[in-house]
Amino acid sequence: VPVPGVLYHADPVRGAVWREVFARRAPQLRFDLWPGDAPLEEVRYLVAWQADRSLLAQLPALELFFCTGAGVDHLDFAAIPSQVPVIRMIEPGIVEGVVEYATLAVLAAHRQWPLYLEQQRRTQWQPHVPLAAGQRRVGVLGLGLLGRAVLERLAGFGFALRGWNRSARKIAGVECFSGAAGLLPCLAGCDIVVNLLPGTAATHKLLDAERLAALPRGAHVVNLGRGSSLDARALCAALDAGHLAGAVLDVTDPEPLPPDDPLWQHPRVMLTPHIAAMTRPDTAAAVVIDAIAQHRRGEPLRGTVDRARGY
Ligand code: GLV
Repeated sequence: VPVPGVLYHADPVRGAVWREVFARRAPQLRFDLWPGDAPLEEVRYLVAWQADRSLLAQLPALELFFCTGAGVDHLDFAAIPSQVPVIRMIEPGIVEGVVEYATLAVLAAHRQWPLYLEQQRRTQWQPHVPLAAGQRRVGVLGLGLLGRAVLERLAGFGFALRGWNRSARKIAGVECFSGAAGLLPCLAGCDIVVNLLPGTAATHKLLDAERLAALPRGAHVVNLGRGSSLDARALCAALDAGHLAGAVLDVTDPEPLPPDDPLWQHPRVMLTPHIAAMTRPDTAAAVVIDAIAQHRRGEPLRGTVDRARGY
């Protein structure tokens, strides 16, 4: 039986960490970095950020494609043979990053941090009566692993929680909405809404002028999913009209955001360059090693992408 080969084709600095983890935890697996001297005809598992058409054409024995990102909307699926499953990255480093960032953004909105920053710039000492967490309704769009982890952490602060998902979900302590008909009723009760939906045709400009108008006056929008899910022009209009109080955006469309985009300068927008969560090489390599073992036992894998659904 040939030794199953793993080929890594992504950031080379992180690749060195992947190599070290594989050597220590799975010495029975041949692990190579690309470019390098991997015997391509023996590669069974590819770990990559992009689907490199010319490289994929040289991997006749490929069994699985592991994407190094949680989102796969950037992938050229046509370049990956249809019988090769694509696996999204679900690893503790990404979960922790998303939970930390969402908590930071929700607490900043809840404690009116953007307003106090504006006041500081005006040397204005003006306290406002804070709302108790239990009076603040926080909603999460997308109730997969990440959305549920965020809700679990936010529950500890005592927020009134709700969530929306394409298909129905049940989460203790969270008012759940689903399907197209459930979105506006969900948004109508979100003082702070956190978007974690994947970027697909179905979520393109999901948060448009009508949906943003459904949010209560003074609401905050936090986007950690994909920039394509939010109509940025409609967001700016809703902020300028005073309907929305602020936005925290870790993702934009396009990325990087062009220097002349009005989002950069908007006083009520806090912007970060897609850093909420980054795949951590040590924890991600361990997850892929476990997934390869599961695959070799014939077990189904968590994070397997449904190509038709797009996530
Ligand atoms: C980040 O957005 C990712 O998809 O991993």
